[in-house]
Amino acid sequence: MRALAPGDERGDAALWEAAIARGEPLLRNALGLFLDSYGAVTGDLSLAHGALGVALTGGLTNRLLHLIPGSGFHARFSHGNRSDQARHPPAAGPVRRRGRLCQEPSPVSHIEEIMLTAPVIPVLVVDDLSHALPIAEALVAGGLRVLEVTLRTAAALDAIRLMKQVPGAIVGAGTVLNPAQLEAALEAGSEFIVSPGLTEPLGKAAVAAGVPFLPGTANSGDIMRGLDLGLTRFKFFPAVASGGIPTLSALASVFGEARFCPTGGITYATAREWLALDAVLCVGGSWVVPKGVPDPAQIETLARAASGLGQ
Ligand code: 3PG
Repeated sequence: MRALAPGDERGDAALWEAAIARGEPLLRNALGLFLDSYGAVTGDLSLAHGALGVALTGGLTNRLLHLIPGSGFHARFSHGNRSDQARHPPAAGPVRRRGRLCQEPSPVSHIEEIMLTAPVIPVLVVDDLSHALPIAEALVAGGLRVLEVTLRTAAALDAIRLMKQVPGAIVGAGTVLNPAQLEAALEAGSEFIVSPGLTEPLGKAAVAAGVPFLPGTANSGDIMRGLDLGLTRFKFFPAVASGGIPTLSALASVFGEARFCPTGGITYATAREWLALDAVLCVGGSWVVPKGVPDPAQIETLARAASGLGQ
C-alpha cells in the first residue's frame, strides 16, 4: 500500500483507514484532534451542503471514528440532527464553538443563575435617561441586582448602557419583540433578554446568539415551542390575567422541567404566594419603581422589601 499523499484526505477513506490501522500515532492524534475541534463545523457544512455532503463526510468519519477513541465528533454527528441537539440543552462549562474552546455557560443554566439572583426582577420603563442611574443604584442598594429595562421607550437602550455601569447590576432588555430588537439590545450590552411572548424567529435568534433568554409563555403551546428550541426557563405572562396561580400550577404539572418567572399583575402583597410554587424561581414586577421622578430612598426601601421575599 502506498504512503499517504497530499489530496488523499479528499476522497480515499481506505487509505486513511489503513494508515490508522497500521498505528501511525501522529496521524491518529492529528485526525482525532481535528475531528474533535472542528467536528461541529464539519457537521454544519455537511448538513448545509445536503445529503451528498452528509454521505461523504459522515461516511468517511463514521468509518474512521471507531479507530479514534474519545472523538466528540462521533457523538455529535451520529446521534440525531440539529433539532435533536436543540432539544437537549448543552451542559454548562466549556463548549467548542467554531473550533475554539470557550468558557461559556449554556443559555439555560445562565438564565437560571440570573433568575435565582434575587426573588424579584424589577420591570423598568425608563422615560427619561437621567433617571437611569439613580434607579439602578437604588435597586442594587436594596438588594435587587437583576434589572429588566423594557424597550418601550426611546431612552431604553441608553438606559441599559448607563445602568451597566452600576457595580453589581445585571442589566437585561425586556419587551424584546423580534431579532432586530434583540440585536439592538445585545449591541447595548444587555446581559439577558426577556420577551412577552415566543416567536420562532426571535427564539432561534436568541438561542443562536447564546444570550440568556426568558421568553414569555401563557399556555402549553408556547411552552412546547420553547422546549423545541431547547429552552426550559420562561416568563409566565401576563401572570394574573392568564389565570394566575391555578393556571401556572396546571402547566407546571405537565411540563416538569420548566421553571418560570411569573410577571404581570403581581404585587408585593401577592409575590410570596407565587414564590412558594416549586416551578417559580422568581417573579417580575414594576411595583418596585413607582412611575414619575424617581425617589431613590423610596425605591431602595421597596427593593429591600422585595429582596426579603426570598427569605
Ligand atoms: C411586564 O412587562 O412584564 C409587565 O408589564 C409588568 O407587569 P406589572 O406592571 O403588572 O408588574
